[in-house]
Amino acid sequence: MQDTPLPRHADNQPNFSEIVQINRQRRLLLQAGVALTGTSLLGVWTASLAAPSGPILPLLGFTALPVAQGGGLEPAISVDYQFDIILPWGDPLEPGGPSFQWPLDAGQQARQIGIGHDGMWFFPFLDTHAARQGWDDVDEVNPWQGRRMASADSQHGVLCLNHEFGTNAHVLGKSAPESLEEVRASQHAHGVSVIELACVSPPKPRWQTIKGLGRRIHVNSEVAFSGPAAGHRLLANPAGNAPWGTVGNCAMGYTPWGTYLTCEENFNGYFGTDHAEWTATPEQARYGINAEGFNYYWHRFDKRFDLAHPNYVNEANRFGWVVEIDPFDPAQTPVKRTALGRKKNESATLHVADNGQVVVYTGDDERFEYIYKFVSADDWRSMRRNGESPLDRGTLHVARFNDDGTGEWLPLTRASPVLAQTFADMGELLINARRAADRVGATPMDRPEWITVANDGRVYASLTNNSRRTHDGAQVINDRAVSTAPDAANPLVPNVDGHIIRWTETQGHAGARFTWDVFVFAQDTHGTEQSFADPDGLWADPDGRLFIETDGGQKDGLNNQLLVADTVTGEIKRLFSGVPGCEITGMTVTPDRRTLFVNIQHPGDGDPAVSNFPKTNGPDGVTVPRDATVVITRKNGGIVGS
Ligand code: FEO
Ligand code: CA
Ligand code: CA
Ligand code: CA
Repeated sequence: MQDTPLPRHADNQPNFSEIVQINRQRRLLLQAGVALTGTSLLGVWTASLAAPSGPILPLLGFTALPVAQGGGLEPAISVDYQFDIILPWGDPLEPGGPSFQWPLDAGQQARQIGIGHDGMWFFPFLDTHAARQGWDDVDEVNPWQGRRMASADSQHGVLCLNHEFGTNAHVLGKSAPESLEEVRASQHAHGVSVIELACVSPPKPRWQTIKGLGRRIHVNSEVAFSGPAAGHRLLANPAGNAPWGTVGNCAMGYTPWGTYLTCEENFNGYFGTDHAEWTATPEQARYGINAEGFNYYWHRFDKRFDLAHPNYVNEANRFGWVVEIDPFDPAQTPVKRTALGRKKNESATLHVADNGQVVVYTGDDERFEYIYKFVSADDWRSMRRNGESPLDRGTLHVARFNDDGTGEWLPLTRASPVLAQTFADMGELLINARRAADRVGATPMDRPEWITVANDGRVYASLTNNSRRTHDGAQVINDRAVSTAPDAANPLVPNVDGHIIRWTETQGHAGARFTWDVFVFAQDTHGTEQSFADPDGLWADPDGRLFIETDGGQKDGLNNQLLVADTVTGEIKRLFSGVPGCEITGMTVTPDRRTLFVNIQHPGDGDPAVSNFPKTNGPDGVTVPRDATVVITRKNGGIVGS
């Protein structure tokens, strides 16, 4: 619920968002069983907001895209909406840059949009200028919290866009690279694009790249470490090589001081070795590091990724972090924030607690992994005034979901005797955060993906699926004996289609206790017009909508899709559907929420016979599917999701 005045139109009439807010308050009252009369509390509220009386507007006002239209060869959208396709893989990062060609040129790919479009965030210029000016209210610089939405620039900004992965077959057109040049092409297709973007018109409004702040950060870009593990012996190699690169960039977060957080997820897949005698240490095995990796074969030409090479024994420890990027400073060195712990970070959702501490929720996306929360040591503003990052000092916690609907955040510090016994120092603990979490009794979850904080403070997390959840109990997965038995928070055996769990922080966001329930089990929607499976991307808007993106085998003949849920009523409507073989991921809006960006990742799973989306192919008629960003607007100019 908002607690500050909402923005006004010049004529002092409520805008559509306000009406939705007012109606939402009504619906909350109705849900709470409060009887409404002509002179009720509602009347007081509506009078105080200068709103008209009238019919209650549905939160999801749009016509849903029917199941019958959600499984075609082309993307499809609600009749009330329209979309445009921008930023396909291989397009120049800025005007005048090298245009797409395939096979790739490694040098050019480093100046082009990468592949595997995933998490992203739009940073409007006014917003960040406010942060730089030191305006002292987070909401002044965070329009997505629902305040001052009209104040920031919704036509021009910087988009930070993650490039999670691209298989050799898709990127190189072959199963394995045959030269260092081809390894570099693959490496340059990964990482992050920082893109200056503006909505240009006429003849027709269209988002285009602008020359200015664009930069690529990839596997061979300089990075730095910060926080408790920085400088640790386990982050140093005999080679003495400087830290380079980011990989497996899945979802994201953003900070109230105007920076972007990119999350390294499946970093293990990029390491490998052809040395048969090599075996993984228990610490490596816990992260799924093995000789095959995901068959990228970078190690054959780039020894940094060869697990058996004695000069690079700790290189894999340098990945699996949350990395902070300044969208507005192309010269900034991206910083790996070790206080948040090393895991397969899906997303890093930052929320400012009422006391000014920042918390960062991260899901570790693998079967039977955990949900984490970092809590900064102090108020974020005072920490920054003292010259330290709020992300460098604080406490990492891991979640235990009790069967009675309560939960606890368990601190991962050496104050715990078992952790003090296991780890020599905090650096070692954070580098092995999964092993630390194993020892304190955290709840193994059904693949935690995105996490978002809704307008009522509740936190939503997608648990995408878990094919290995069993009744009988114990398996060894990633060198860990884990109970695979169901529990109240992960009750489905197996969990084929996933669910969305949510919790309320009962001691505030920086606190240690919560209560939880399940928002939706995806399997319950099958055979209905709300059908979806494998929830992944999540974003909660300031009005109480929950945007849900899917990644996995959909039922009822559907492609992967974008849906919108009403967090109060549970109603779900389909807004957009992708193409065969793709997932839908990444979500950001302009401050006015009139434009929504999402991504189509791995169309056709990279196979042009399945999908050659978006048919903007390279020279010589080459056909290769290209990941791209979808720009979604409501035809009547309304806020997205309405
Ligand atoms: Fe990158 Fe778990 O999805
Ligand atoms: Ca993905
Ligand atoms: Ca994901
Ligand atoms: Ca996924």
